[in-house]
Amino acid sequence: MKIFLDTADVDEIRRASAMGLVDGVTTNPTLVSRTGRAYKEVIKEICDIVDGPISAEVISDDAEGMIAEARDWAKVHKNIAVKVPMTLEGLKAVKTCSAEGISTNVTLVFQPLQGLLAAKAGATFVSPFVGRLDDIGRDGMDMVADLMTMIRNYGYKTEVIVASIRNSIHVSQSALIGADIITIPFKVFNTLVKHPLTDKGIESFKADYEKIPKA
Ligand code: E4P
Repeated sequence: MKIFLDTADVDEIRRASAMGLVDGVTTNPTLVSRTGRAYKEVIKEICDIVDGPISAEVISDDAEGMIAEARDWAKVHKNIAVKVPMTLEGLKAVKTCSAEGISTNVTLVFQPLQGLLAAKAGATFVSPFVGRLDDIGRDGMDMVADLMTMIRNYGYKTEVIVASIRNSIHVSQSALIGADIITIPFKVFNTLVKHPLTDKGIESFKADYEKIPKA
């Protein structure tokens, strides 16, 4: 399973990628707005830190506008995956981008058939949002499992990025389902490494080491 970071904070990206575990980054306008910096400037910096797919989102509503934005993003860096919303116009844009060799990430997917259509349109990635579905009392991970089955049934090459991840349980469930990629906030990334019994074990091994006679 590939791990992407879901953040536009370059310090977080530097720290996580120094551990050698980050395969890509996803951003959205909300995450970039928190940095107080220009979108393109942030994306260029991220591309210098991580050598993997970096998602940057379009904001147009119509296919023509999205395609124009996608072409612009594609000029910024070869690793950019253009994030396109899951709408009919978005799917039209994905089709054109796919024909032009521009990588795409269809975002805001909340039901499996949306993801299946994105795959059929030629999306490189599709992003089902689990946390936002859980928030309204639905099971986000069930939706991802169904989407994975549909994509595999037809052999689409589209990779599923499990997004809107809120905790390590979402990460475990994604791995059990066999999702291609998870995209996680930095704070979830940190929780994946930790367990209180690991810390306790290290402490007791250190203490016992001190009791060993030194040669
Ligand atoms: C993914 O590409 C999105 O940026 C992100 O996962 C959205 O998550 P949220 O529901 O926490 O905003």
